[in-house]
This record gives sequence, structure tokens and C-alpha cells, in this order.
Amino acid sequence: MKLSDIRQLVQVRVPELSRKRRVLAGAYNVAEYRAAARRVLPAGIFDYLEGGAEDETTLGRNRAAFDRWGFMPGFGAVTLPDAATSILGRPSALPFTLTPTGATRLFHPEGELAVARAAASAGLPYALAGLSTVAMEDVAAQSPSLDRWFNVGLSPDKGALSAKLDRVAAAGYRAIIVGLDTRALGTRERDSKNGFTAPPALTLASLLGIAARPAWWIDFLAADGIRFPNLEPAGADPSMVTPSMWEQILGHSESSQGWDDIEALRAMWPGKIVLKGTVNPEDVGRAASLGIDAVQLSNHGGRQLDRMLSPLDTLQEARQRAGDSVELIVDSGIRRGSDIVTALALGADACSIGRAYLYGLVAAGAPGVSRVIEILADELVRTMTLVGVSSVAELRARGTEVVRDLRVVGGAGVPVRADASLKRVDA
Ligand SMILES: Cc1cc2nc3c(=O)[nH]c(=O)nc-3n(C[C@H](O)[C@H](O)[C@H](O)COP(=O)(O)O)c2cc1C
Repeated sequence: MKLSDIRQLVQVRVPELSRKRRVLAGAYNVAEYRAAARRVLPAGIFDYLEGGAEDETTLGRNRAAFDRWGFMPGFGAVTLPDAATSILGRPSALPFTLTPTGATRLFHPEGELAVARAAASAGLPYALAGLSTVAMEDVAAQSPSLDRWFNVGLSPDKGALSAKLDRVAAAGYRAIIVGLDTRALGTRERDSKNGFTAPPALTLASLLGIAARPAWWIDFLAADGIRFPNLEPAGADPSMVTPSMWEQILGHSESSQGWDDIEALRAMWPGKIVLKGTVNPEDVGRAASLGIDAVQLSNHGGRQLDRMLSPLDTLQEARQRAGDSVELIVDSGIRRGSDIVTALALGADACSIGRAYLYGLVAAGAPGVSRVIEILADELVRTMTLVGVSSVAELRARGTEVVRDLRVVGGAGVPVRADASLKRVDA
């Protein structure tokens, strides 16, 4: 074989000098974006993004929950699957949203503005966190076409809540997403170890970790300081972060709030309401009876109550309780398009991604978020084709025809018996 023949077979790529462009060209799945994010962030900040509560049992189970299901494709003609759907009554290009994540400018100087841009250009809803580091009005001004949702905390101070809702409505947010799972602050022990507490008490090790990532430091110092403009009361000194704000910043909310307060909220907000942070079918039934529009089944990505069930553990039962009046959105652990296909087959109307888009943001800003969305979309469409469904509606209608529970033999509902599996091995 001549050298020119080899050249035709082997296409040598010129090495890409820009780190961001290298990541965008080479990272072909969410796990690769995670690895790239880990290389960029100081260890303590990566831990804040990644960590789960206590033993991180739920964090780990969130992935295992997807692995319990297997696809059972059926042969037949499939046209290129249409992954478009509607979420909260509005068309969405894909069956997933971008879920709220607080303090996003810690991960990238553009923070929520970059995420919003990527979500808007993909035609997906994005829920801005109450603890976002960019003002809700700035997101609205920069991304007017974005389907905007806002994360609102319940509060016994109904005057303050009403003022917040007026502000959210004035900024053109059409849905509010209300956390049910922050009655206490989940203990993320990685954060305690790193001094990522309220107020911060950074340890020498975490300061050294920050020093080991000079590029992150340079970006961080060149950008405006971190603020939480959606928490600050009007006229507050923007440089002041009070201890009570720190509590909110780290995820604590009022524990005195109950179903009466949700009912009051329903009366106060004429737009769509999403309740987020339960996996309990009873809560879904209750939400339906109060005229709530959607429930986001979630364990907060394993960051709040350790050992909490995963949404997939209760999804089918939740679907039964929801009926047709409440949409079900699933988050916690979604890293592949096939995860989304599994959740839709088990009864979800849509899914929501958290850490997955943050990895893209850290690694390459808005183009990184766009790339993660594109990767998930490609995986979703390929999985639908291989499973044998042509649309989201068909996938949801065929449901458990196309997924089987690996915990039962052949998915036929017969529990696995020790002797049965032994016989199979002997045979
Ligand atoms: C860094 C980070 C910050 C978060 N901040 C919030 C928040 O402010 N409000 C909220 O409701 N959920 C918050 N969440 C939880 C997400 O909305 C979502 O439930 C979770 O990330 C889903 O799990 P996944 O990241 O494994 O996909 C946060 C998650 C992360 C990773």
C-alpha cells in the first residue's frame, strides 16, 4: 500500500488550539461534557454542581433507576420520528425542558443568560431559578422568544409573595415552578467539607483547588460579582448578601407551608403552575384536585433527601393519579436520549435536564448548552427509530409495549426466582 492510499483511509485532523472548540468538536455525549466540566472547574465548585445529599445513595440510584428498564422494539416501518410535542399547552421542539439551577454564574460568567439563549434557539422552555444570578428581566429582554418559567418559593408573607408574582408576570414569565422539597436544607457533605456553607467558610484545600484552575479564576474575576437579583428586595444594597439570603441561596425554604398555601397560590397566579420535587402519587392526585397544571416528579437530583425514591420508581402510579388533567415532567438523572424515551414510555409527558446542560455550560458556554441539547435530541430520535415509534404521541400511547421491567422475568410480570435464574444458567 502506498502512502497516498493510507492518506485516503486515515484523515488526520489538525489539533484544535482553543479548549472550547476542542470540546465542542470532540465531546460526543453528556459524560464527555461532564469530564470537560471537571477539568475546568475548581474542585469545590464542581462538587457543588455534582454532589448529592449525605451518602449520595439517591444520586447513584437515579441512574440505576433508568438501568432497570429495557427496550423491546417491534419490527415495522418507521418514518423519521417527530420528537416535537407540547408542554404546558405550548409547542416544544423536543420533549424536555431545562430545569432551574441556582447560582449558575459560578459555572460560567454568562450564567443563566447563556442557558436562556441556548434554550430559546432550541425552542425549549427554561425555568429560571429563584436563586439565579441574573435578573429575570434581563433574561426576558435578551431572550424574548424563550418559553420562560420562574422558580418561586412558598412564603408565609403573602404580601411579599404577591409582589414577587407581579414582578414575574410583568417580566413575561408564563409559568411558575414551585419547589415542594426544600423544607430543610439537604446536607451535601461535599459542600460542608469544602466550606461551601452559609456564609462561605472556604478551607485551605478548596482555596488551593481554586488556585489550580487559573482560567476559571480569570473569567470569574473579570466578570461582575455574583449577585442574586431576584431575591433582593427593591433598593437593597447589591453588595450585601445577608445570612437569610444565604439560607435561601443554599436551598432552604419555609417548612410551615402546606396544601392550603398551594391552594392560595393557585388563586393568586392565573398562569400555569408546576409543582416540583415530589415522587408521591398522592401529591399528584392532590395537585390534580387543586387545578395545578403539572407536577415535576423529582428528587432534586439527589441533592435534598438522601434515600428518596427516584421518579421512575413511582411514575406509572403517578400517571394513574394524574389522569389527563396534570402533565408529568420527570427530572433527576437524565443523561441520555434513551432516558427520555424510557420516561415517556412509562407515562411522563416530558422530562427536564439539570446537570446535563450545566456540564455543557461549564465546558463551552451557550454553544456547549446547545450542543448538549443537540446530543440528547439525536439520541432521542435514534432511540425512537430503533424502538420503532414515529412520534412522541405514538411512544406515549404504546408505552409499556416498548419497555420492560428487568426485575421481572421476560417482563411478563413473573417475579425472578432464585431457582429459575439458576436453571437458566445451568441450561
Ligand atoms: C447546581 C444545582 C443547583 C440547583 N438549584 C436548584 C434551584 O435553585 N431550585 C430548584 O428547584 N432545583 C434546583 N436544582 C435541582 C434541579 O432543578 C433538578 O431537580 C436536578 O438538577 C435534576 O437532576 P439532574 O441534575 O441529575 O438531572 C439544582 C441542581 C443543581 C445541580
